[in-house]
Amino acid sequence: MSGIQTILENNRQWVATKNAEDPAYFRRMADGQQPKYLFIGCSDSRVPASGITGTGPGEMFVHRNIANMVVHSDMNMLSVLQYAVEVLGVQDIMVVGHYGCGGVAAAASNKQYGLIDNWLTNIRDVVRLHETEFLRIKNEPERLRRLVELNVIEQVRNLAKTNIIQNAMRSEKPPRLHGLVYDIADGVLKDLQVDNDDVMRDMEHIYATEAHDPEEDPGTPPPSEPAAAGHPNGHAHEPAKKPTKEPVPSSDK
Ligand code: CO
Repeated sequence: MSGIQTILENNRQWVATKNAEDPAYFRRMADGQQPKYLFIGCSDSRVPASGITGTGPGEMFVHRNIANMVVHSDMNMLSVLQYAVEVLGVQDIMVVGHYGCGGVAAAASNKQYGLIDNWLTNIRDVVRLHETEFLRIKNEPERLRRLVELNVIEQVRNLAKTNIIQNAMRSEKPPRLHGLVYDIADGVLKDLQVDNDDVMRDMEHIYATEAHDPEEDPGTPPPSEPAAAGHPNGHAHEPAKKPTKEPVPSSDK
């Protein structure tokens, strides 16, 4: 038996085992999910999300990509994050990197690998941010291990830059962000102790945003909207008055 036949046979055995252990298992699963955790990990086949965390079906929402990245133009990651935080209400969000990550090693080299080079550029940005520290580490395997850790920390920071996390942090039950590293050589998951208050505070002066409150500030109508005339879909719309501009006093004396 080979290929997909192995997978299907494994599945049949798994179903039989589950049903034998707990006849209501699949009925319960079909009722819905309320996972407490969101796992953002690497696609590497040696880092199985449920296996290394001891979680079963229904317990953890999972997103995986090469080198566990949080990239702000990645609609897939953003959709997973928004759904997990705003709909499922996950309480713990973990970015899980791993030592021996091929994506991180490729980003640290000067070789081209094709399309993926563009994805890896996001890790090169981490190298640029921490170049002074890297130059001090002479031992290459050690430097790569440190890059894995710093990449995880930067991806946690990238989570904090999203309006999804910023809004969630202001809610009654703010989620907790974690940076973890898995060691494929011994199976141990290490907590990098990323301080959430620090991360959010660091973001404040450049990345913090607030949701627009139309009650407080009606804003300026979009330029395409006809001024004064009725809206094409029948809504009477009073365009907000532009503030009269006063001449700016010169600061020169
Ligand atoms: Co990896």
